[in-house]
Amino acid sequence: MSASRPPLNKTSPKMTSTVRLPERLLLGPGPANIDPRVMATMQAPVIGHLDPAFMEILAEIADLLRYAFGTVNEMTMAISGTGFSGMDAALANVVEPDDTVIVGVSGFFGGKAAEAVTRLGARPVVVDGGFGSPVTTDAIAQALAAEPDARAVFLVAAETSVGLRQPLAEIGDLVRSAGALYIVDTVTLLGGATVGTDSNNIDVAYAGSQKCVGAIPGTAPITFGPRAAEIIARRSTPVPVWYLDALAIHRYWTNTPFYHHTCSSTLMAGLLEALRIIKAETIEARAARHDRNGQALVAGLEAMGLQIASDPANRLSMLTPVRIPEGINDAEVRAELLQSYGIEIGGGLGDWAGTAWRIGLMGHGSSTENVARVLAALEEALTARGYECQPGSTVAAARQISSD
Ligand SMILES: Cc1ncc(COP(=O)(O)O)c(C=O)c1O
Repeated sequence: MSASRPPLNKTSPKMTSTVRLPERLLLGPGPANIDPRVMATMQAPVIGHLDPAFMEILAEIADLLRYAFGTVNEMTMAISGTGFSGMDAALANVVEPDDTVIVGVSGFFGGKAAEAVTRLGARPVVVDGGFGSPVTTDAIAQALAAEPDARAVFLVAAETSVGLRQPLAEIGDLVRSAGALYIVDTVTLLGGATVGTDSNNIDVAYAGSQKCVGAIPGTAPITFGPRAAEIIARRSTPVPVWYLDALAIHRYWTNTPFYHHTCSSTLMAGLLEALRIIKAETIEARAARHDRNGQALVAGLEAMGLQIASDPANRLSMLTPVRIPEGINDAEVRAELLQSYGIEIGGGLGDWAGTAWRIGLMGHGSSTENVARVLAALEEALTARGYECQPGSTVAAARQISSD
C-alpha cells in the first residue's frame, strides 16, 4: 500500500457533496444525449425485478423492440449489459466449439466479433472488405462455397468506426439459401433506420441502447428468429456463459416468477420510454430525420474544405468520419471542443486513429441545431489554428440541405 494514501476514516469534503457531471453535447459515436422525457422516467422509484408491474414493462419493451427491429420474433428482449454483451449473447448462444463462422470485417467492430468467435472455441473465417469498405455479396458467396458447413455469417450493419452502412438484403438471401444463420450487429442502426430483421432474413440481431435508440447505456436489445431458437434448443453443449443464456433470459422475461438476474427497473423504464418515443415518431420518420441531418453535416464539413472519410455509396447518416487536415493536432482540437464548447466528438478508431474524427448525430441528438453547433465550433477551432475557410459558409451550406 502506498504511504501517501489518506486514512480511510477521514471524511473528505467530496464525500458530503452531491456528485455533479458536466453538461455535454454528445456528438461522438455514442452515448448520445437523450430526450428529457427518458431521463425523467428514470427518476421513478426502483421496483423489484419480479414485481408484476415490472413484468408488464418488460412485455411492452419486447413488443416495441419487435417494431424497431422489424420482426415478429417471439424471442425478443434486452440483455442487461452494453452493446458488446449483445454481441457475446448473439454468438455464444448459436455457436458451439469447432463451428465455423464467416465474419465480415470492414472496421473495428467486425474485428471484435472475429475475436469473440475465437474465444468461444470456434473458427472465424474473416472476409475482409478492407477498413471502410463494405463486404461484398460475391466475397460472402465465395466464403460460403469454401465453407459449406459454416454455422453462421456475421456482419456489422453500421460500422461505427468508419461510418459505413453495410448492405444487408442480398447477403441475407444468400445466407438463407446456404442454410447458415445470419447474425447482424445493429448497435448503431437500431432506432435511426429501418433494420428489416425479417425482410432481410436476419436470424439474430442485437443493438445498444445509447445511440439511436435514445436511452442511456446499459441495455442491449436482441432478437432471435425461429431458426436460431431451434439451433439453441438443439445445442450439444451448454451456452458457455451462464449470464447470457438466451433461453434463461427469455424465460425470465416471459414466465413470471422466474429469477435469472436482478434486472434494473430504472434502466428498463428508460428504455421503454425511449421506445415509446420511437413508436410515436415512427421508424420511417426517424430514418428520414437521420438522413437529412447526416447530409446537412456532410455539406457543412465539405464547405469547410474537409474530406469525408466514409465511402459515399454506403455512407452512414448517424456517424460521419472526417479526415483531420494536415498540420492540425487531433487531441488538441477535440479537447478544445470539449472544454470551450462542451461538445464531445469522437477520435478515429483502429486504422483511422489519429487521422479522422467521428461526428455522431444519433437519436434525440440528430437535429438541425446540433449540426449548426458542431460546425460552428469546429470552424472556430480550426481557423484559430491557421486552417483557412470562408467564415460562416459552413453553417450556411448545412442549412441549405436542412431547408430543402
Ligand atoms: C457497431 C458497434 N458494435 C458494438 C459496439 C459496442 O457497444 P458498447 O460500447 O455499448 O458495448 C459499438 C459501440 O460503439 C458499435 O458501434
